[in-house]
Amino acid sequence: MFVSLLLLLLVCSAQSSHFYGTVMTYYPKNTNADGSLTVVLRYKLSFHECTSDLWYCASQDCGNETSLVLNVVDQESSGEWCQIEGIMTRRVPSYSQFELVLAGGNWINNNNGISIWVALTGVELRNRSDIGQANTSPQTTILPVLRVPSNCRRDFHLLDFDPDGDEVRCRYVNSSLFECHNCTTPSVLSLSESCILSFSPTSSVNEGSYIVQMVMEDFPR
Ligand SMILES: *[C@@H]1O[C@H](CO)[C@@H](O)[C@H](O)[C@H]1NC(C)=O
Ligand SMILES: *[C@@H]1O[C@H](CO)[C@@H](O)[C@H](O)[C@H]1NC(C)=O
Ligand SMILES: *[C@@H]1O[C@H](CO)[C@@H](O)[C@H](O)[C@H]1NC(C)=O
Ligand SMILES: *[C@@H]1O[C@H](CO)[C@@H](O)[C@H](O)[C@H]1NC(C)=O
Repeated sequence: MFVSLLLLLLVCSAQSSHFYGTVMTYYPKNTNADGSLTVVLRYKLSFHECTSDLWYCASQDCGNETSLVLNVVDQESSGEWCQIEGIMTRRVPSYSQFELVLAGGNWINNNNGISIWVALTGVELRNRSDIGQANTSPQTTILPVLRVPSNCRRDFHLLDFDPDGDEVRCRYVNSSLFECHNCTTPSVLSLSESCILSFSPTSSVNEGSYIVQMVMEDFPR
């Protein structure tokens, strides 16, 4: 199931360093007459330039993409980064679970030495016993770049909201779940389960860019 992932990485590995990050969320929109489900997946994607890239199916059945709308959300005036928003609609079998992956090269130059990016969204659309409907993912957004003075400790409360009222937890990516290519965590940052990202520099040697690869998950209360 992950063979196509490896091929894609090889194809893309010659590209320059230009990736600033991505985040994807989803919600089930409606059940169709044939029993299939329409789901809307929204993602933000930041590159050095206003470009986009495609998510692919890493499972047996991710249904069919019925539309994809891309918009430029914001662009840094000096041309350092550009953020794109994608709104993807898919018609999927009811009660389905699948994974969408975005992968390629390369991340912007960074202190944790990561070049190839991997982002994996686990889509869970089985009916829940509590609400009798398919699940909605936690909602959040990203900033392409977060700048901090190198000598100050800072805590960032990552905004999260779950439409189903679930408990939201954050964690770093896990290599056993194929959520990253190089899973090296940023040395001067720590991430709590309650989604607080803390920056605690130890010396000026810590200056530079750090890649944070994390997963936000919802758990029924
Ligand atoms: C996706 O398209 C294929 C080929 O047309 C079709 O067989 C399948 O039923 C479609 N899936 C859904 C969930 O509509
Ligand atoms: C990940 O990057 C670090 C830092 O560059 C490097 O030491 C390590 O070998 C890499 N690991 C993998 C699996 O590529
Ligand atoms: C899931 O719930 C929806 C709406 O409550 C219902 O129409 C559908 O039949 C259910 N699907 C399954 C597989 O139970
Ligand atoms: C990573 O995922 C595997 C498989 O689910 C699990 O056994 C392991 O405990 C996880 N590792 C961490 C650090 O959470």
